[in-house]
Amino acid sequence: MDHQPVTAAELFDAVGQDYEEAFGRPPAVDEGVRLVLDRVPPHAKILDIGSGTGRPVAEDLAAAGHDVLGVDVSAAMVEIARGQVPRARFVHADIREWESQDASWDAVCAFFPFLQMTRDEVVAVLAKIARWLTPGGVLALVTVPMDVEDLVVPFLGHTVRLTSFATPDLINRVEQAGLTVLDTRSTAFSPDREGQPDEEHLLVLAQA
Ligand SMILES: C[S@@+](CC[C@H](N)C(=O)[O-])C[C@H]1O[C@@H](n2cnc3c(N)ncnc32)[C@H](O)[C@@H]1O
Repeated sequence: MDHQPVTAAELFDAVGQDYEEAFGRPPAVDEGVRLVLDRVPPHAKILDIGSGTGRPVAEDLAAAGHDVLGVDVSAAMVEIARGQVPRARFVHADIREWESQDASWDAVCAFFPFLQMTRDEVVAVLAKIARWLTPGGVLALVTVPMDVEDLVVPFLGHTVRLTSFATPDLINRVEQAGLTVLDTRSTAFSPDREGQPDEEHLLVLAQA
């Protein structure tokens, strides 16, 4: 166990493929992908923030014929995703710094990229997402809802600082970014890894 808290880039560079093995296909992620697929036009432009290994999210979206771009702060994750999902594109970038054109994405997926950002950084990224979506475009966000800031926790053999929002607070932040929350769903999830605790997953579907 590494006891020094690490950044998201350091964490996921070290964890790599092991993330997919331990977390696989959580029901909230599956549901988020399904809700996005139900709402986008054919050949949609879909941005996947924190695209990880590219599976299952970018892979499923690209297999449905959409133009998918994954953005991830971990160089190792980007390399794995490029190898596993050649039908999608992936860039190595920090979403806090990355920019895109206004009204240029039919959908944005953000499945667990926010847990190592400060609350102000999450709010700033939500504002960018609201700007990047086409009118009527959708955001599917999945996170672990908790009222915590800088909580030091173990994660797959490493130590990380976790920041998140309680469910009502997150919903308010999404609405304050200018999006309309259409649906929220909460599920319990057990990672396939001894010692990794069960967690709540919150899916938020919102529209520009
Ligand atoms: C918990 S993993 C989830 C991967 C994938 N979304 C999934 O659900 O299978 C979170 C991913 O977000 C990425 N991430 C964390 N902070 C980020 C940031 N500031 N910019 C871009 N990616 C980030 C991590 O590198 C990691 O690959």
